[in-house]
Amino acid sequence: MKILVINGPNLNMLGIREPGIYGKSSYADLVKLISDYCAERSVDVDFFQSNHEGSIVDEIQGAYGKYDGIVINPAAYTHTSVAILDAIKAVGIPTVEVHISDINTREEFRKFSYVSLAAKKTIAGKGFDGYLEAVDVLLEK
Ligand code: DQA
Repeated sequence: MKILVINGPNLNMLGIREPGIYGKSSYADLVKLISDYCAERSVDVDFFQSNHEGSIVDEIQGAYGKYDGIVINPAAYTHTSVAILDAIKAVGIPTVEVHISDINTREEFRKFSYVSLAAKKTIAGKGFDGYLEAVDVLLEK
């Protein structure tokens, strides 16, 4: 099993960015947590983070034929990006959507997710552990 973990805009600022919402751990801490979890389960994992919508679309397209699953936190693009939704649909790779915070209990505009329309599952409000749960969901298939 080979998976790709994609993180969208501002998630490179984890640890600095609104720690009351996203926690004090960094993006590097997140990568290590997921890497260790995957290593214990013999899952090959690659990571991609970008602040640019088109780069995320390119990465999803490039995943075609290379990955068995995608874990994605599209961050702010969750609520705006038809292009990322269409890319996930185009490649047909099983995808699990993750949000560190609970998008359902914050501002109204965070409640709608385009990506959820193509995701196998959406996990929100579980902090970094949500990414590990997403790996488990992909392993279940
Ligand atoms: C987020 C929630 C989004 O609404 C927000 O724009 C983010 C992070 C989360 O992980 O909780 O950047 O996806």
